[in-house]
Amino acid sequence: MAQRTRRKQDGEPAAVSFPELPPDMTIEAMLAHRYDGQDGRDIFSKANEFALADQARERQIYPFFQPLDNNDGPQAQIYGKRVLMFGSNNYLGLTRHPYVVDSAARALLKYGTSMTGSRLLNGSTHMHEELERRIARFVNKEAALVFTTGYQTNLGVISSLVGRRSVAVVDKSDHASIYDGCRLADGEMVRFNHNSAAHLDSVLIRIGENKACLVVIDGVFSMGGDIADLPGIVDVCRKHGARLLVDDAHAIGVIGEGGRGTGSHFGLEDGVDLVMGTFSKSLASIGGFIAGPRKVLDWVKHFGRTLIFSASLPPASTAAALAALDVLEREPEMVDRLHKLAAQWRQGLSDMGFDVGRSETPIVPVNVGDEYSTVMFWKSLIEDGVYTNPVVYPAVPMGKAMLRTSCMATHTPEQIEQALERFRTVGRRQGILS
Ligand SMILES: Cc1ncc(COP(=O)(O)O)c(C=O)c1O
Repeated sequence: MAQRTRRKQDGEPAAVSFPELPPDMTIEAMLAHRYDGQDGRDIFSKANEFALADQARERQIYPFFQPLDNNDGPQAQIYGKRVLMFGSNNYLGLTRHPYVVDSAARALLKYGTSMTGSRLLNGSTHMHEELERRIARFVNKEAALVFTTGYQTNLGVISSLVGRRSVAVVDKSDHASIYDGCRLADGEMVRFNHNSAAHLDSVLIRIGENKACLVVIDGVFSMGGDIADLPGIVDVCRKHGARLLVDDAHAIGVIGEGGRGTGSHFGLEDGVDLVMGTFSKSLASIGGFIAGPRKVLDWVKHFGRTLIFSASLPPASTAAALAALDVLEREPEMVDRLHKLAAQWRQGLSDMGFDVGRSETPIVPVNVGDEYSTVMFWKSLIEDGVYTNPVVYPAVPMGKAMLRTSCMATHTPEQIEQALERFRTVGRRQGILS
């Protein structure tokens, strides 16, 4: 069991090397600035009044949109400084794999930089179709359909399937793209408690039998790193005749046999009607896919607006995803290596006293609590040579801020040890660890 991280106590000194906020300008107050939906007469007024980002930039605690000078995989460079990379979704470290880079370069030279059109018209190549066949085979489904991003995949699939008399039933911790897909759909959206099959059951009972339901879950949750209770959820879906879509963005290449995702992890591939995934994480590219029955994908192909009305995945990205899939199929032991390193990372943090929640994967949250301590912790870690991602309100509820950390199959055990040591030093210095 993970121990609870000790929160910074009132009156305790904060970070030594960063400016304190004035007492009337707490980070909570800055973050609490919310748009009330009233635009007044000028549509720009909300933007002109939005001060939060500028205030954080002035205090040099603005953590977002920070450009990396370089990103080799397990290491990166930021502000001219080498850092160990513990904040990327490049779980298999394939973005610098020579075969992946070479395949992308050759596709770039062969097809040019862009297809300049949607899949429906001039945007398809034989590579897109090959990628679809390969993905379908990999996740053991009849067919697959490739989108330009994972975000667009969820929007296009959910909005085309959930019509006026249907309901999307989503886990409260699902990714934003699932919520946005529901907003674009004509049907209703209902939420169930995070990873609770029992609550899903009661929600489906309440909805009744007259409405068609699509249950949508993340296979691996992108912030908590926990794995969905697929056995429980599949049972409930079967009981109610609901269809199940699993977003495996963080599961492909990470869990299941040879990285085949959540269905494979539980031996329940048949219980998952639709598998969604992205190429922007383990598969070292950008783009998304949906895999499932051919007839259903044919519907999405003709009614999924984010597929039809947006230009296709560029050739170099398509080739990179295909090549990454080749590597993953040839070297499934990469996934075992990732698990070993992830266990070392998770256990090391937990043993020091950090609260790592319910993570079971290479995504390991370090729950800190208050927003200011989290941002200071992030900044201090970069100064000490470790890159992580701060996650603050409104991405998480106020007071539940955390660092999202992740490790990669290309980290060495020594790099994990080094990063752990720096977490210990900085955690103590920042008053997060006792
Ligand atoms: C669970 C989940 N689904 C979908 C997406 C969207 O994928 P992409 O970034 O490839 O558009 C993400 C991205 O972070 C994600 O974490």
